[in-house]
Amino acid sequence: MNKHKHDDLSTEVYATTAMRQAAPSQTLPEKGTTAQAAYRLVKDETYAQTRPELNLATFVTTYMEEEATRLMNEAININYIDETEYPRVALMCGRCINIIANLWNTPEKNEWKTGAVGIGSSEACMLGGVAAWLRWRQRRKAQGKPCDKPNLVMSSAYQVVWEKFCQLWQIELRTVPLTAECLTLDPEKALAMCDENTICIVPICGVTWTGLNDDVEALDKALEAYNKKTGYDIPIHVDAASGGFILPFTNPSCKWDFRLKWVYSISTSGHKYGLVYPGLGWVVWRDKKALPEEMSFSVNYLGASITQVGLNFSRPAAQILGQYYNFVRYGMEGYRAIQQTSMEVARYCHEQIGKMNCFKNYSKEVENPLFIWQMCPNYEKTAKWTLYDLQDKLKQSGWMIPAYTMPKNIEQMVVMRVVVRQGMSRDMADMLLTDIRNAVEEFEQLHYPTETRLKYEKQIKQCGKVFTH
Ligand SMILES: Cc1ncc(COP(=O)(O)O)c(C=O)c1O
Repeated sequence: MNKHKHDDLSTEVYATTAMRQAAPSQTLPEKGTTAQAAYRLVKDETYAQTRPELNLATFVTTYMEEEATRLMNEAININYIDETEYPRVALMCGRCINIIANLWNTPEKNEWKTGAVGIGSSEACMLGGVAAWLRWRQRRKAQGKPCDKPNLVMSSAYQVVWEKFCQLWQIELRTVPLTAECLTLDPEKALAMCDENTICIVPICGVTWTGLNDDVEALDKALEAYNKKTGYDIPIHVDAASGGFILPFTNPSCKWDFRLKWVYSISTSGHKYGLVYPGLGWVVWRDKKALPEEMSFSVNYLGASITQVGLNFSRPAAQILGQYYNFVRYGMEGYRAIQQTSMEVARYCHEQIGKMNCFKNYSKEVENPLFIWQMCPNYEKTAKWTLYDLQDKLKQSGWMIPAYTMPKNIEQMVVMRVVVRQGMSRDMADMLLTDIRNAVEEFEQLHYPTETRLKYEKQIKQCGKVFTH
């Protein structure tokens, strides 16, 4: 090979200059390379370290139908914000907001319900939070009262976005610690933390750490009495990142949404149980009055006046098409069947794991298709392995199942979490359970030369294999 030959289309991919040099990490290379070489370099470096469907750590969609994937790929070059150029996309987005608002029992009668699209739940939570803060400020200003010390109340099992929101907007985050007895937000304790500066209380449906739901109905009831007594108007924003697309299908009689008086806004992730690939969140307000005017920006963009609610400007349109495709394709019945399947598979895993003598489930119930478990306290006292070892062991067979410590107050508790999504079948659950059982057996044999191990060694000797532990 001529070292000085300039790369051209005839150069073999793995003989190009790019393949002989360290990948650029500080400056732009002086010369580019061929498309094939650039593709291979990036592809090789980002080779998935696990199969996405075995990643049970994430809530985010890893399976969509071929037609949906095609539709989204075909829209990859469409910027959602170019409403004038692609008016049908904006219309489709409005239809998605309407459908979601009705799914959550909006009282709004207007043809177009009040909501916004975001890049994920994080943006949607921030928009819900900003609206609550601005409404509170308006009220305080109208009363001639100071508005420099806002606070927000939620359980200590919040997702990090709320810490970000509070830091960015300089709002005090007041958290109600979870206890071993009370596994979700305690409404009375939440109210005890409220005062005239509370912009809202944020219960979570599908708590990231546990999979449980805060009891929004009980909170709403307690808040009604509290607001009456104090004369405050503290509202609720429900962070339904996961539950927003689970509860309407698996537990429609549960009141957690706009059927409750003080629920002013709800956010969710379209890219979680909305069943769309990453990059999609939704927020819906109770009605137009709940969305402060300052949050709608009218801009003259590319010769047309558009009104936008959001933190981002440009964003991909593909996810909106994917969401609308799912609505058309699945309907109520399809979503119900998919979410119920995930619930069934999750409940099955929960039950089987709960039967293993080394494990204890965190809660009796599975309320969303995810759950956590810990080591039995008695077993843990003498165990020479931890859930972190189990996490590493399962990684060897491709499973991503995180072990982590719980939030403040119960932070000494180490748990493991499984998130079941569309794409995880009962058969896969059986494979996972077998891998867990095998791993535990291996840990026990490794550390304790018990009867089982002796029997195992004998069997191995008989078939002439070497025992390698
Ligand atoms: C309760 C809750 N809120 C907010 C978020 C943030 O969601 P996203 O990743 O869609 O921004 C998550 C993500 O897991 C979550 O579980």
